Amino acid sequence: MPTPVNVAVIYYSSTGTVSTIAEAVARDAENAGAQVRLRKAAELAPQAAIDSNPAWAEHARATAGIPEVSPDDMVWADAVIFGTPTRYGNVTAQLKQFLDTLGGLWQAGSLADKVYSGFTASSTAHGGQESTLLALYNTVYHFGGILVPPGYTDPSKFVDGNPYGTSHVSGQGDIPVAEQTLTAARVQTERVVKFTRAIKAGLAAEN
Ligand SMILES: Cc1cc2nc3c(=O)[nH]c(=O)nc-3n(C[C@H](O)[C@H](O)[C@H](O)COP(=O)(O)O)c2cc1C
Repeated sequence: MPTPVNVAVIYYSSTGTVSTIAEAVARDAENAGAQVRLRKAAELAPQAAIDSNPAWAEHARATAGIPEVSPDDMVWADAVIFGTPTRYGNVTAQLKQFLDTLGGLWQAGSLADKVYSGFTASSTAHGGQESTLLALYNTVYHFGGILVPPGYTDPSKFVDGNPYGTSHVSGQGDIPVAEQTLTAARVQTERVVKFTRAIKAGLAAEN
């Protein structure tokens, strides 16, 4: 019987692109046999900013039922797959704020020895997807986490072309998440589950 693994998919999304990928990643992880928690980072933006963008307001309403992430989700997880839109080539404040609440767990060593991976979206093809994922991964090094990026480990990666993590170019919100991004998400998620299983089983055998 394969080693049971817990995967937390933790994301922030304003207008729904990243949440669509997050839902796909959660399904893919389930299909790969993992226990899954899909969790969103809490909103920080003022209501006026949200209301000024109909797509943002609508997405906030549509995802009201998705639980907000808590530090306990990090403790529960054997693997964490983070998702964030690109903000000036960087991680969103909302996801970063959650990461910044984890100092106590970091200090206790509770975030180490887990598998981590990430995905993103941006308006433009060279708008900072790689820098966003690399910035996200800085935190993983501090956790003592084990990064499992997709690399070019599957032929589909030569189509989607981002070895750092699944990335979607959303245009002005008019390029929906479709097969290329969904394939990249599946390949990355299956790889995360596979290595999480192997690492968990290996560590259990060591101890
Ligand atoms: C404040 C802000 C900064 C952004 N910075 C970038 C950027 O650096 N490069 C880019 O291509 N898109 C940028 N975008 C666009 C978003 O990354 C893009 O629309 C993304 O797909 C939104 O994901 P979501 O629908 O999950 O919120 C920015 C958007 C906002 C609101």
